[in-house]
Amino acid sequence: MLQKDIEEILITEENIQEKIAELGAQLTTDYQDKFPLAVGVLKGALPFMSDLIKRIDTYIELDFMDVSSYGNATVSSGEVKIVKDLNTSVEGRDVLIIEDIIDSGKTLNYLVDLFKYRKAKSIKIVTLLDKPTGRKVDLKADYVGFLVPDAFVVGYGLDYAEKYRNLPYIGVLKKEIYSF
Ligand code: PRP
Ligand code: MN
Ligand code: MG
Repeated sequence: MLQKDIEEILITEENIQEKIAELGAQLTTDYQDKFPLAVGVLKGALPFMSDLIKRIDTYIELDFMDVSSYGNATVSSGEVKIVKDLNTSVEGRDVLIIEDIIDSGKTLNYLVDLFKYRKAKSIKIVTLLDKPTGRKVDLKADYVGFLVPDAFVVGYGLDYAEKYRNLPYIGVLKKEIYSF
């Protein structure tokens, strides 16, 4: 039913799961002797986080942040507001931020600064998708699943007007859905 709104599937469910297994193996190695705090950025990171953590075979603690950008739905203003903060202190912790996509980079830029201010021991970013053409601030992820083109991508956590997060793949939304 949802697929009728999708122009093209960019990354299949199988592609995603294969990549997550690779990322999980790498993170397992890199965090072997640590106890990182994995911070999922709601709501987009939820499906990715859920699948990724099952592929990390070492001790990890989970927590969540919910942040939102001010302004309208399609263009982020870059001002970030905390909707739900962590329950855990990051002081002295190895923090692994889990995101679905980096676009302008402003959300993660804000979180990295915040966790530095709160004295995290280390801060790394794992993102399923990276859209380098959208970048407005200098920000690089440590672990990237896929690069995506400058298209309106939805699914696997990514929404358009809060819809399509529950698609198991990443697709390009048909133009008629968002332009009227
Ligand atoms: C989306 C996405 C990232 C952020 C990326 O979240 O999930 O968190 O935007 O954009 P940026 O690099 O330009 O900051 P959004 O704020 O739409 O909230 P959501 O995760 O609840 O959809
Ligand atoms: Mn998000
Ligand atoms: Mg969103």
